[in-house]
Amino acid sequence: MTVYSSNEAPVARGSRLAFHHGTLMAVSIHPFDTALGAEVRGLDLSASVDDSSFEIVRGAYEEHSLLLFRDQTLSPEQHIDFSRRFGALEIHVLDQWRHPEHPEILIVSNIKDKDRHIGVPHAGRYWHTDLSYMVAPSRGSLLYAIEIPEQNGRPLGDTRFASAVAAYEALPDEIKARIADLSATFSLAHHRSKLMADGADQSPLTPEQEVKVPTAVHKIVQVHPVTGRKCLFINEGHAVEILNVAPEESRELLDLLCRHVTKPEFVYRHQWRVGDLLMWDNVATQHIAAFDYALPQRRYLHRTTLEGVALA
Ligand code: SIN
Repeated sequence: MTVYSSNEAPVARGSRLAFHHGTLMAVSIHPFDTALGAEVRGLDLSASVDDSSFEIVRGAYEEHSLLLFRDQTLSPEQHIDFSRRFGALEIHVLDQWRHPEHPEILIVSNIKDKDRHIGVPHAGRYWHTDLSYMVAPSRGSLLYAIEIPEQNGRPLGDTRFASAVAAYEALPDEIKARIADLSATFSLAHHRSKLMADGADQSPLTPEQEVKVPTAVHKIVQVHPVTGRKCLFINEGHAVEILNVAPEESRELLDLLCRHVTKPEFVYRHQWRVGDLLMWDNVATQHIAAFDYALPQRRYLHRTTLEGVALA
C-alpha cells in the first residue's frame, strides 16, 4: 500500500504521517528496517523549522536514535542554527580541526593542505560514541556531507551505527546481572595511542588538550537521560578498562561487550550522499566509519556536537 503525505512525497509502508493538533504536517518520519534510524522528509533545514515540525523531529530523534535528512544545502551558520535547536554546542577539544570561522564545527576530512590535515583524518576509525571520554559525553552529533568519495559511481566511506539499546536488551540475563553495577574508564589519550600503535598518521594530544579531557569513568549500563531506556555504554575506541575486576576479566568483558554491541542485527549502515545531514544520539548508539578510500578521493564533512549531561 502506498500512502501520500500532504506534500505528495511517497511514504514507505510503516512510515508515519505527522499530525500536530489535528493538522497533517509536511514533515513525515520513515523508520528504517533496522534496529535504529529513520528518514525525515519534507524539511528544508536551511530555512527556519517551525516549532510544530521541530517537535515532531525531536520526538523521532528520541524514538529512533538516528535521523537522516537528505538533499540539504547548508551553510555553516544554518547547520549551527539547526543544531542549536537541540541544545548548546561543544567546542571540540581538537582545536587544530575546528572550522576556522565557526569553532562549533569540527571538520572531518582526509584532505590535506600541503602536509597539514584540514580536518580529523581518523574520526570513526574504531567503534565509539562521540566524546564518551568526557564526564558529560555528548547528547548527539549532526554530520553534514559536503564531499563524499566514490568509485565507479559507488559512494565510499560509509558509516555504520549500532543501537546500544537493542544490544543491551538482547544481552543474556546473567551478563546483565554481571555488568549492572560495573563502571569503565574512557580516555581520548588512550584512543590516540591506539591510533598511533595501529600506524595512523597522528600525534599525541598536546599537554593543554590532555588537561581538558582527563580520563572519565562511566557506568557500563546507562539509563538514557530522556527515554529512560537502558543502553550498553562501552566502546572499543575510548574504553580502557573495567574497574573493580581483575585485569583479565576486564579484558574479557570489554571484548565480549564490544563485539556484542556491534553485531549486524543492531546495525544500520549509512551510504552517504552529498547533502545528507545525519544526526545521532551519542548515548543510545555508537558508530564506525569505513576507510575504503584514499586521496585523490576526497571526503569532507562538517560536524556539530551537542553538549551532554554528566552520566552516572
Ligand atoms: C565521527 O566519528 O564523528 C565521524 C564519522 C564519519 O566520519 O563517518
